[in-house]
Order: sequence, then structure tokens, then C-alpha cells
Amino acid sequence: MAPVRIAVTGAAGRISYSLLFRIAAGDLLGPDQPVILQLLDIEPMGKVLQGVSLELRDCAFPLLQDVVIGHDANESFTDAELVFLVGARPRGPGMARKDLLQANAGIFAEQGRALNRVVARDARILVVGNPVNTNTLIAIRNAPDLDPRQFAAMTRLDHNRAVSLLAEKCEVPVTDVRRMTIWGNHSATQFPDLIHAQVQGRPALEWVEREWYENDFIPRVQHRGENIIELEGQSSAGSAAHAAIEHMRSWVFGTPEDDWVSMAVLSDGSYGISEGIVYSFPVTVEGDEFKIVDNLEIDGFCQGKLLETEKELLQEREAVKALL
Ligand code: NAD
Ligand code: LMR
Repeated sequence: MAPVRIAVTGAAGRISYSLLFRIAAGDLLGPDQPVILQLLDIEPMGKVLQGVSLELRDCAFPLLQDVVIGHDANESFTDAELVFLVGARPRGPGMARKDLLQANAGIFAEQGRALNRVVARDARILVVGNPVNTNTLIAIRNAPDLDPRQFAAMTRLDHNRAVSLLAEKCEVPVTDVRRMTIWGNHSATQFPDLIHAQVQGRPALEWVEREWYENDFIPRVQHRGENIIELEGQSSAGSAAHAAIEHMRSWVFGTPEDDWVSMAVLSDGSYGISEGIVYSFPVTVEGDEFKIVDNLEIDGFCQGKLLETEKELLQEREAVKALL
């Protein structure tokens, strides 16, 4: 079988250290699909990057056909079919993700231009680096020859956090939770939606108190990233890498019948959300295409939450308009 070329940026960083070995072991594309890893980081990380590539080789992974390391996006992205844009500064204690905007925005303008030039024409590009929604918008706008639908920002970690917290509260396995949605920004304004979620096929709100939902569950999901930083002194890495693998698997292999996942994609105006921002929606994937789930009933409570997170994304877009 021909190998799939997979490009990963920030390859000398923490998330990548949890991601690369799993990709090489077959957790992403399965036990029969060979892969070539094309790893990018900045020059000062050259020795670490070399070390990571030696470690990958030292595993003698049967599926890993080659590991190529470099510092030039034009080389690392060449012919890549799957791309993980992880490389960016993480936040520290006391920071909001949008505080990273000025530090990280330039990376996504430059990498958007490189993707435009050299990536495989049908590539799927998942952005992980924060603030992830607006970084994705910057990459999209700098890659005019690619279809914006080839880009997505990762809100799967928030989605997984919400599934896990709900399952724990209801004392059921996580596999009993379906139709979870994270709407909007990967930030403290995101809206984790239990109005449309189901547990064992029944509405989630028949299982939990409304009071718990609004005053405990929502803020806990919204602030889980900070919570991890307070405890570990650095941001989530293992759970982020897992979410990246799951996001890409859903995109490549599709979503289960009667369920959906959360992906932040360029808004097409669905649910009245402004076009031209990258907003997390419930999506299904069939064949090569994702589709925003339509016709969900949006009550006044949901509407207020959808608009609050949209407002923040419009402000972020305004802050980087020179790069768009
Ligand atoms: P890290 O600091 O451990 O690693 C980041 C790596 O990116 C470093 O090796 C750095 O040298 C590299 N880098 C910087 N600029 C680069 C460039 N121009 N090209 C290529 N590489 C470059 O950070 P991490 O913990 O791996 O986190 C990476 C990013 O992911 C952060 O922005 C973090 O906030 C974000 N993140 C997002 C989510 C999410 O759910 N979307 C979850 C966790 C972390
Ligand atoms: C997360 O949600 O864990 C990441 O976005 C890292 C962060 O800064 O919170």
C-alpha cells in the first residue's frame, strides 16, 4: 500500500511527543496503512527534533516508512495529505488563549502560504495551536488556492471533556453519550450543549439537574484547560494529542450513524452565525465531506450562548485583520 505523507508542526514540542508515536504505531490510519512523517519545528529546536526522529526510528514501527525533519514549511508540507498544525506558543498560568494571538498569528499566515504552494491538493489540515479558531481563519485566508473546507480547528478536546464529565455524572460508560456539541470558540465562551445531547438515547437533561448543567458542567468544560495548567504547570498534551487523532479519524473515516462530533470550521451562516469566522458546530462526516448538522431547534438559552461566543470570535478576527 502506498504510504500517506503526514506533516506535523511543533514536532519537538509536548503535544507532538504524545502524537507522533501513536501515528507511527497505526492509531490514526489503522494497522495496514504505512506512513511517512514530515516533521517541522524552528531551528533552535533542531537537536530536540533530531532526537525525536531517532526515537521514532528506534521503535522499529512496521508502518513507519520514513521520518523527515526540517525547518522550512515549504519542504515539510510538500505533498502531505494530512497536516497537524500544532506548532505555536502555549499559554501559561493566568493567561487567556487569546493572549497568544499576537505571538502566534504570524506563524499561521506564513504556514497558510506554504500550504497553498505545496500541500497535496486534497489535504485535510487540522489546526491545534492556540487561539485555534482564529489561527485557522488566518491559515485559510493565506491559502486561497485551497478549499476552506480542507481546514478545521480542534474543539474535539472540549467535546471529549464534555462527554466524559456527563458520563461520570450519569454513572454510565462514555459510549452511552451521543450527540454532544461544543459550539463556537475554543475558549471560556464556548457553549457545551446538553440540550441536544443524549444518554442511552434519552435527552441528557432528563438525567441531570438543570442547575448542575448551567452552573457546574458548563463552566467546568469551559475552564478545563486552565484547570490542567494550574495542576500540571503546563497545558494539556496527552489529551490534546488524543483529541487530534480522534478528530482526524472522524474526518477520514466518517462519523457513526445517529451521532455527530464537534469541529470548528469556516461558518457558512448556519444557525445565523456570521460567515467568515471559524466556529465550532456539530458535524457529520460521510465520504470525503463534513456537513454541519442542520435543523437543530435553538431555544432562547442556546441562542444567547451561541451569540456570546460568536461575539468573541468577531473581536478576535478584528484584532488580526491585517493578516486576513
Ligand atoms: P510546546 O511549547 O511544548 O510545543 C510547541 C512547539 O512548537 C515547540 O517545539 C516550538 O518550537 C514549536 N514552534 C513554534 N513556532 C513554530 C513554527 N513557526 N513552526 C513550527 N514549529 C514551531 O507546546 P504544546 O504543549 O505542544 O502546545 C502547542 C499548541 O497547542 C499551543 O498553542 C497550545 O496552546 C495548543 N493547544 C491546543 C489545544 C486545543 O484543544 N486546540 C489543546 C492543547 C494545546
Ligand atoms: C486546552 O484546552 O487544554 C488547551 O487549549 C490548552 C490551554 O491553553 O488551555
